[in-house]
Amino acid sequence: MESLSGKIAAVTGGTRGIGRAIAERLLRDGVKVAICGRGRDSVERAVDELGKIGPLFGYPADVSQPEAVADFFHAVDEALGGLDILVNNAGAGVFRKTGEMTIAEWRHNIDLNLNGVFYCSREALARFRQRGGGHIVNISSLAGKNPFSGGAGYNASKFGLNGFSEAMLLDHRHDNVRVCSIAPGSVATEFGGPSHRQGDVSWMIAPEDVAEVVALVLRMPARTMVSYLEMRPARPKK
Ligand SMILES: NC(=O)c1ccc[n+]([C@@H]2O[C@H](COP(=O)([O-])OP(=O)(O)OC[C@H]3O[C@@H](n4cnc5c(N)ncnc54)[C@H](OP(=O)(O)O)[C@@H]3O)[C@@H](O)[C@H]2O)c1
Repeated sequence: MESLSGKIAAVTGGTRGIGRAIAERLLRDGVKVAICGRGRDSVERAVDELGKIGPLFGYPADVSQPEAVADFFHAVDEALGGLDILVNNAGAGVFRKTGEMTIAEWRHNIDLNLNGVFYCSREALARFRQRGGGHIVNISSLAGKNPFSGGAGYNASKFGLNGFSEAMLLDHRHDNVRVCSIAPGSVATEFGGPSHRQGDVSWMIAPEDVAEVVALVLRMPARTMVSYLEMRPARPKK
């Protein structure tokens, strides 16, 4: 397995949940990490807490806004001096039956979970070109393969993300770029809002488990690319 020590990674949506666990895991592996999220306070809090583990740079940015994404990557260049790894993690879901969904809700799913991944990947690929390669990990979802009622907008964004990931892989693998989509089932985070996950969440995947898999994928020898990987709660609620 390859060492990640000294590499530079950007993790979108790194202020809580899965992204925060990934940032922490990479810091423990000696990676210099940049995170973003929309909230200035939550970015600062994450930097205060995780910055004790290793070099962590935080920048408030909404990844559904191409200008904000460009600013984030320029700030990462200046703060950390390059980019080897991008984890497209920032994501959300507005769950509504198709006929009841507003155009703003539809756009929110697609702008964040699909367009935002393109904006960030585009910035990363430009930097990988200069450095001779890099690795992109996209946090997709089992909802990218399994449609469900009320999930049309979220399903469409994650189905789209899976197709985008694979095409990007085919576009750039001969440029030493590796691309992986990780598709978890239910993870114990604040996804859907703090009140969404109430009661016993011990049956769910822990964010740290997803982070462990991200680290495993990134540490694969350069000859090997894990391109798609599913994670499920071993014993989901009956
Ligand atoms: N939890 C699950 O069950 C589950 C299952 C499968 C896949 N996933 C996927 O895993 C990823 C992370 O989800 P999570 O469960 O960790 O969610 P979460 O706990 O709600 O965390 C989401 C993170 O993304 C950031 N974020 C949200 N909108 C953003 C935007 N427009 N620009 C930049 N950052 C933004 C949030 O910070 P701010 O709010 O401050 O912006 C936060 O740091 C998502 O792509 C989700 O689709 C989650």
